Amino acid sequence: MAAKKLVYPAADRNKDPILSVLKKYIQPGPDQTFLEISSGSGQHIAHFAPHFPQIVFYPSEYEPRLLESIAAYATEFANIKDPLRIDVTTEFHTWGNGIFKEASIDYIYNANMMHISPYECSISLFSNAGKLLKDNAILFTYGPYAINGKITPTSNVNFDINLRLQDSSWGLRDIKDLKELAEKNGIKLIDIIDMPANNKTIIWKKC
Ligand SMILES: C[S@@+](CC[C@H](N)C(=O)[O-])C[C@H]1O[C@@H](n2cnc3c(N)ncnc32)[C@H](O)[C@@H]1O
Repeated sequence: MAAKKLVYPAADRNKDPILSVLKKYIQPGPDQTFLEISSGSGQHIAHFAPHFPQIVFYPSEYEPRLLESIAAYATEFANIKDPLRIDVTTEFHTWGNGIFKEASIDYIYNANMMHISPYECSISLFSNAGKLLKDNAILFTYGPYAINGKITPTSNVNFDINLRLQDSSWGLRDIKDLKELAEKNGIKLIDIIDMPANNKTIIWKKC
């Protein structure tokens, strides 16, 4: 089983700083659910799950080839479900044969997807989160962002240029635009936390 586990070096570096942020915002409580959109290798959810035994974690991925790695991590933890194949641009009612009900999720987490996917994925992330999250529940997004049309530092400017050269529909998203998307879906930006390597974790709350 261990051989199937992919290891992304970046996920290894950022999993602890992200966990510290989650610990500040995740409240103790019974029967909580945490849905990850675009789990990648599965490293993040496997790192977080043992710290929150009260939460049932649902990993998911768009790329079918990654599901095996996520499952290999998930199987080691009683509170991580088998990964679901989720394309965030589809309606949540279709995910996992309809296991998620409206206003039923406590936490949604999405790392490093918005800038490495078409903008449609960001639009759908917020529209699905707006329907799935309970009132006062939280959406965490992690990655590099532009702020009011400006990208800093130069390394992120170059990263954005390289992404757009690879795929013209990719690129760093502007927090100002995301805030508008969020508000259209009843979600408020409540905090922006600077993270290592010029990334940010953004905390969004369903109102
Ligand atoms: C850079 S990886 C990030 C993986 C992981 N979250 C991490 O931080 O290591 C970007 C992810 O976005 C996912 N993605 C791309 N299009 C998607 C879509 N339509 N729905 C859901 N995820 C998507 C890819 O499959 C990929 O896993």
